[in-house]
Amino acid sequence: MPIKRFKADRFRCLKSLSLEFDPAVNLVVGPNASGKTSLLEAIAYLGRGRSFRGSPPSSLILHGEKEFVLFGTVLARGRERSIGVRNSRAGLEAKIDGAADVGAADLAEALPLQVIDPEVHELVAGGPEQRRRFLDGVAFHVEHRFLDAWRRYRRILKQRNALLRSGETGADVWTGQLVEAGAEVDAARRRVLEVCQPALEERASGLLDGDVRFEYRPGWSQELSFEQALNQSTERDVAAGSTQVGPHRADLKLIYDERQARRLVSRGQQKLLACSMVLAATEVVQTALEEPLLLLLDDPAAELDTDSLARLINHVAGLGCQVIATSLRSDAPVFPAEPRRFHVEHGDIQVAS
Ligand SMILES: Nc1ncnc2c1ncn2[C@@H]1O[C@H](COP(=O)(O)OP(=O)(O)OP(=O)(O)O)[C@@H](O)[C@H]1O
Ligand SMILES: [Mg+2]
Repeated sequence: MPIKRFKADRFRCLKSLSLEFDPAVNLVVGPNASGKTSLLEAIAYLGRGRSFRGSPPSSLILHGEKEFVLFGTVLARGRERSIGVRNSRAGLEAKIDGAADVGAADLAEALPLQVIDPEVHELVAGGPEQRRRFLDGVAFHVEHRFLDAWRRYRRILKQRNALLRSGETGADVWTGQLVEAGAEVDAARRRVLEVCQPALEERASGLLDGDVRFEYRPGWSQELSFEQALNQSTERDVAAGSTQVGPHRADLKLIYDERQARRLVSRGQQKLLACSMVLAATEVVQTALEEPLLLLLDDPAAELDTDSLARLINHVAGLGCQVIATSLRSDAPVFPAEPRRFHVEHGDIQVAS
């Protein structure tokens, strides 16, 4: 679902801009602190209702202003949809095709996107939460009932944890429902992984030369059912005041040439592994939605040698998704087809002549 027109007002250093993107590849070039990442962050905000850098909304408003406003048009199944987001002290206000009462899930449905930025290696090097979020992001698009099951699971977990914390007995009244919702979340994740795994491994071996495996850990001992694991963990749960096992503790272990990627591979290799995950997710979601996705590529050259960067760009180009990439240099990265070029300076972005 390529983004066509995009406007940003008072978002970080971007005072006011209006751009038209190419449905294929766009390259935004500018020096340090010119606003490249801010542009991608603004576009991603339109599709997620939050910053991919984890910045609180108030820090995204141009210094001295009270709100930021974003607007975009997106092509979906031959139809143009408009998305608007305003963030002020009153909070987030979003509209799709003029209709209000729009939440983050609606935004993600209207403008599905993936991000590769210089922090992407954190997907491999960081904690399990990021990998769970990654997996769940794919599940959201390809498994229709996932969001509902995940929300139910979170709600019941919260209630169970509140009882555990209060020191009252009877947290078990929630166990049956927790098991049911948890089983749905777990089953959806396993189905998603089954579809993603071949794509993940193919991308990873293309980018890195080596064997890559992904091992799913559901969040409890695999010898037990979730219900058995919950029953066995009751004492620990009471002591900790929270539920210690379950899909909220799941992880995805990455094994590269029999080494645990999280600890034992170089930073550049971690970036390539993480990129292979994002590219595989892009491929799988695109296939499910039958629409090209938007891929935001912030400073892809960071941490990569010339050869690795070229491989990454070739894989990206091969996906046929819409790309908005940034770079410090106008001569790199090199895409197989000439991109639409933009130049950015002091938060002002223009089509390069
Ligand atoms: N809320 C804000 N209001 C005004 N300016 C801001 C705000 N938040 C960040 N900035 C500034 O915006 C500028 C651009 O930041 P950005 O991260 O987009 O640059 P960049 O082009 O990606 O740089 P680099 O090449 O170093 O990654 C920085 O100078 C930053 O301090
Ligand atoms: Mg940047």
